Amino acid sequence: MRTTTLGPGGPELGVLGLGCMGMTHAYDTKTPRDDATSVAVIHQALDLGMTLIDTADVYGPLTNEELVGRALRDRRDRAVLATKVGLLSRDSEGRPVRGPDGRPEHVRLSIDESLARLGTDHVDLYQLHRVDPDVPIEETWGALAETVAAGKARHIGLSEVTVEQIKRAQSIHPVTSVQSELSLWTRDWLDEVLPYCRQQGIAFLPYSPLGRGFLTGRFASFDDLPADDFRRALPRFQQAALRTNLALVGKVREIAERIGASPAQVALAWVLTRGEHVIPIPGTKTPKYLLDNAGAADVELSASDLTELDALPTPEGGRY
Ligand SMILES: NC(=O)c1ccc[n+]([C@@H]2O[C@H](COP(=O)([O-])OP(=O)(O)OC[C@H]3O[C@@H](n4cnc5c(N)ncnc54)[C@H](OP(=O)(O)O)[C@@H]3O)[C@@H](O)[C@H]2O)c1
Repeated sequence: MRTTTLGPGGPELGVLGLGCMGMTHAYDTKTPRDDATSVAVIHQALDLGMTLIDTADVYGPLTNEELVGRALRDRRDRAVLATKVGLLSRDSEGRPVRGPDGRPEHVRLSIDESLARLGTDHVDLYQLHRVDPDVPIEETWGALAETVAAGKARHIGLSEVTVEQIKRAQSIHPVTSVQSELSLWTRDWLDEVLPYCRQQGIAFLPYSPLGRGFLTGRFASFDDLPADDFRRALPRFQQAALRTNLALVGKVREIAERIGASPAQVALAWVLTRGEHVIPIPGTKTPKYLLDNAGAADVELSASDLTELDALPTPEGGRY
């Protein structure tokens, strides 16, 4: 796989990474987990050069980091390991509860717990999952900076932030990366955040680059979604919106057929054209999908393909 760096001067990694969320969280959660296959997919990603492995404490919660830790037990040095803090809090007894928590004391405890679950003494990238509206970002970011000083994280990054929030964090400690949703049907960050990241030498990690699977053409109707699945609550997947949004998939499929690629590859190749340090993290727990996605690094879109893709209409329905 072609490589890039996590921002200019950062560690080298494949231009595509792997998002592990769906292995234990959010999607199709009633079907019993197949951890053996998920571990095999993580190994396959590393073998293919998709070295950025992305997880978070809130996925599961906790189970995703445990799974990733098991997968990396004998190959930790081959991964650029990224996890997140900030969307999982703890109750008065210290038990995990979902919800924003950017208090510095929470970050200090959470990094050690994440490292224990991941079976490692450091992560390569520690990300603030969301800015806690009740805690100034400078305070939370200061605690993430402490994890770097302590050698527990090599780099720190943000997720779903505005330029203003990035600047406030930068006043405390360098921002290595920003992870936000970016795909053919989510282009909100292209106007301000991505140009700012490019200018500042901050890597951009597009999450849900396949539109949570929609852009691959897998879901022709609301009923195609598994019974217990986070996407059932998202506006874009409601039947009326989904029917309208199928026009986008139709266009992606048309281009894919023309150039001899899959729709997933076209969707990822388009994201890859957004910049040198733009590293999408498509999620999958399926070996054949991982192989398909890896192939996107070699797909070349012509100027006219790009013009057609850039002209796709705004989807119907908000993203959350
Ligand atoms: N920072 C944040 O707030 C945030 C939010 C959401 C996600 N993320 C990160 O971003 C990663 C990716 O996002 P995502 O998983 O939400 O969405 P995604 O990558 O856009 O899509 C994942 C879905 O697409 C399916 N899929 C993957 N490759 C495919 C292919 N080649 N053909 C057909 N279907 C395919 C997967 O199926 P299977 O799973 O069945 O294989 C899964 O249902 C997550 O794993 C997580 O690490 C971060």
